[in-house]
Amino acid sequence: MQMIFALIVVHILRGVLAQDELSLAFPDGFSIGAGTSAYQIEGAWNVSDKAENVWDYLLHKCPSLSNNNDTGDIACDSYHKYKEDVQIAKNMGLHHYRFSISWSRVLPTGTPDIISKDGIQYYKNLIDELLKNGIEPFVTLHHFDDLQLLVNKTGGWANESMVEYFAEYSRVMFRELGPKVKFWSTFNEVNIFCKWFAYLNETTPDTAYRASYLCAHNVLKAHARAYHIYDEEFRSIQHGQIGLIISSAYYIPKTAGDTESTDIAFDFNTAWVMNPVYSKKGGYPEVMKQRIAENSRAEGLVSSRLPEFSDKWINYIQGTADYLGLNHYITTLVEPVKKSNGRWYDDAGVIFSNDPSWKLTAIGWGVVPESMSALLRKISKDYNNPPVYILENGASEIADFMDIDRIAYLYSYMKEVLMAKRDGCDVRAYTVWSFLDNYEWFNGYAQTFGLIHVDFKDPNRKRTPKLSSHWLKIILSEGKLLPYKENLLEDYGNELEKTIEALD
Ligand code: NOJ
Repeated sequence: MQMIFALIVVHILRGVLAQDELSLAFPDGFSIGAGTSAYQIEGAWNVSDKAENVWDYLLHKCPSLSNNNDTGDIACDSYHKYKEDVQIAKNMGLHHYRFSISWSRVLPTGTPDIISKDGIQYYKNLIDELLKNGIEPFVTLHHFDDLQLLVNKTGGWANESMVEYFAEYSRVMFRELGPKVKFWSTFNEVNIFCKWFAYLNETTPDTAYRASYLCAHNVLKAHARAYHIYDEEFRSIQHGQIGLIISSAYYIPKTAGDTESTDIAFDFNTAWVMNPVYSKKGGYPEVMKQRIAENSRAEGLVSSRLPEFSDKWINYIQGTADYLGLNHYITTLVEPVKKSNGRWYDDAGVIFSNDPSWKLTAIGWGVVPESMSALLRKISKDYNNPPVYILENGASEIADFMDIDRIAYLYSYMKEVLMAKRDGCDVRAYTVWSFLDNYEWFNGYAQTFGLIHVDFKDPNRKRTPKLSSHWLKIILSEGKLLPYKENLLEDYGNELEKTIEALD
């Protein structure tokens, strides 16, 4: 009897192990790549007829805003070194490469009156180079870098006129680049862009809130305009897909069971921009509408500072995506907080913190891989299992070539992605942020996310593959996720050490 029992246990265990092994194989058609964005890597900020973008303007005027006065003026110089970048990506075996288009490089006045030949040619060359090397381009139209000229003219995204400027810009891009691009994203992280980057100088809580709500309102309209333009004028000939990229943290109650706080946090930070496009009903989450209206009344405002969509716009925006672009990095504990007259958290009424037991990456974000699968399951459940492309996930470190912590991070997060997929979530792509070390916004170049090290002191911006890029190359050629093991990377490690010594 005992023997039979033992055999059954062994059989079950074998099954579990086999199952686990099996699920670590990359499913057919699952695309793995790495990401970049224009301002963070291109440099060449004033070549040819490129116009100034908001980052050029801001960081030239006020360099101290950025750590070490760093700017993206030269960045990785990918504008000149794109062929080398593509060779590195090819060598790694990447399936796709994510990059963004700099609006100020292609339309220097913001409108189609002047189309920069050199600007367009740069992206055509990059796309051709990628395709020639068997790498699928994933193209983002807007990654935090508006034209300064348009912002001067309109005041930025709080002004609805930006919607049509963006629509015109996107039409030109579909026409010029669309014949070779199958994966378009309109905006990168609309929620982060509007909350943290678009209105940096709005210091009073009401104007800052109002500006970011208005910004997202108009960005969502602009996204929908671009989607419909693609759908009506280009889809039948170009056969591509188009979606929106949203950043989402995963929220854990600080007090066990306080799901009210985590729901509010998700609604105010993610569902805010996810519901209008991806929910069946469209429009903003009810809890946001109620709380903001209440707060606005209590502050003596005549109407809610959250703008309202007309029914026409709700319908126009709802459903405008072929996939959901997801960036995920942060896990945070959530707890309720009392109103304190004008602090940033007043509208939502919740605050965030790290659990002291979490290991943190250099940027201070907790490493909690289970959040990845939990978030994917939540999205699948709340939004009717949409196709999800993970377009960013990764870890920052203070420059280190032997980036074993990054490998451990990527392994554990990718594993959760595969588990979620095994459980039925329709996740179709995973993108490591980032391909190259690059300009990490106000953090400058001090701590970076790259698989490839870039020497920012070298005028030639020498690229050196880190250990993580070699690990990625191995798992891509094996077709399955493997953990870091010393013998797996021994040869490479020795080679790398020699390179590093030579660099010193
Ligand atoms: C999201 C942004 O899209 C990207 O530009 C940034 O570098 C990473 N997060 C890391 O902060």
